[in-house]
Amino acid sequence: MENLKGIEEQALNAAAQAQTFDAVAKVRAEFLGKKGALGLALRSVSKLPVDERPKAGQEINAVKVRVEEALAKAQQAIEAQKREAELDKGRYDVTLPGRRTLQGYAHPLRIVEEEIIASLAPLGFTVAEGPLVEHDWYNFEALNIPADHPARDMQDTFFVAPHVVLRTHTSNVQIRTMVKQEPPVRILSPGMVFRHDDVDPTHSPVFHQVEGLWIDEQATFADLKGVLHKLAHDLFGPATKIRLRPSFFPFTEPSAEVDVSCVVCADGDTASCRVCSGTGWLEILGAGMVDPAVLSAVGYDTDKVQGFAFGMGVERIAMLRWGVDDIRLFYENDLRFLRQFSGAGRA
Ligand code: PHE
Repeated sequence: MENLKGIEEQALNAAAQAQTFDAVAKVRAEFLGKKGALGLALRSVSKLPVDERPKAGQEINAVKVRVEEALAKAQQAIEAQKREAELDKGRYDVTLPGRRTLQGYAHPLRIVEEEIIASLAPLGFTVAEGPLVEHDWYNFEALNIPADHPARDMQDTFFVAPHVVLRTHTSNVQIRTMVKQEPPVRILSPGMVFRHDDVDPTHSPVFHQVEGLWIDEQATFADLKGVLHKLAHDLFGPATKIRLRPSFFPFTEPSAEVDVSCVVCADGDTASCRVCSGTGWLEILGAGMVDPAVLSAVGYDTDKVQGFAFGMGVERIAMLRWGVDDIRLFYENDLRFLRQFSGAGRA
């Protein structure tokens, strides 16, 4: 019992010095545990004369309570310190300027593709897609371009394997659609196409097309002209004129190359216009009445249905629209170029 004062002092000191939860637990075991100093003291009470026992017991218990309180205080202090440290870590300076989040916007090629679709969808065209790696039959044969025919030279082709090509146009989708579906057909097929071209300001081995196909009992050349007229107006403005020149494609007969009136010199000096080379016209697409050989290839009855197709390069239209003079700008992902088109497309 003489030691009790000393034990209490030691315990309170140790509690005050404990800096971690582990240290607190250690002090608790050392003094309050069964084999701790105060535990042992309690047990030794039985050795005292009977009349001294109650008082001794009370004193020891009082010390236990005070040590317990000191340990609880130490525990709280460590918790508070931890919380402070956490808060310090997340401290921020409210006077710093905020970080701007970049807002995304459509690529110019996507804008043009979407404008073509938006122009023609009200006429009943829906979007159809197909594979980029294509069997010869869908890309050529069924489109009236037989193997070894000189017409193949029009499209310099990447072969992946015998009879397997990277599609040279999105016309494979018209074949795939007609093989699957009975007429009427009214589709637009946008997508990537591939030709073995050297890269220069107007050529790229990978580029984009949108093709249209309309097959019905009565789908005439006049309908084709009406569709193209609407498209030209929507893409280049209501003052735009179109012109059809006779041409050749293996899969259309008759075929036409379609020009729009030059968007650059419309109100100016055509003779010195570099965009249309002084002609006043810009070629933007190929079109024609679908050749009966194509309709037969997909199993359509050429006595019952007919129709037309047209196909255009998305890059070319984008270049004319915005006066871009190098096709490579579309693929280099230079933000200084691309940012100029933010706000050009629909939201
Ligand atoms: N597929 C042709 C091309 O890529 C374009 C075209 C499509 C022409 C449809 C006529 C009809 O050159």
